[in-house]
Amino acid sequence: MGVDYPDLARTVAALCEGEDDTVALMATVVCEVHHADDRFDWTGFYRVVGPEVLKIGPYQGGHGCLVIPFSRGVCGAAARTGEVQLVDDVEAFPGHIACAASTRSEIVLPVRDGAGRLIAVFDIDSDRPAAFTEADAEGLQAILDRTFAGAAGGA
Ligand code: SME
Repeated sequence: MGVDYPDLARTVAALCEGEDDTVALMATVVCEVHHADDRFDWTGFYRVVGPEVLKIGPYQGGHGCLVIPFSRGVCGAAARTGEVQLVDDVEAFPGHIACAASTRSEIVLPVRDGAGRLIAVFDIDSDRPAAFTEADAEGLQAILDRTFAGAAGGA
């Protein structure tokens, strides 16, 4: 089991062709990724909106917290370090922000524009423990890098 990332990447690229509006791109990525696998219970973007501040963007699933400082949670760690965060057990992650009590594991990836600026993080939560692998990290990062390389910014 697992996502066919090359196929998902082709679908996202086809849907987003010619589009540079950041919110439109985020909404499309969220929809396609969220429905690609039953492991994904919450899928969404947190946008960089100010110095060290993330704010909720397009998402699918139950409501998420609206504001996350870079200093907090798994999303904050991804924004702070610029590195993918793969968390097998959210309860073991210091400072994890529990938006849904059912969440057991999560992956958060940095989202950069074509100039390499961090514009958001992409967060997927699962109700299953240790739901995410390096293959997910690689497949998702490739989709994000390609999709947002030409984003106009201002999300
Ligand atoms: N789990 C995240 C918070 C966002 S939500 O779960 C939607 C975190 O600790 O960064």
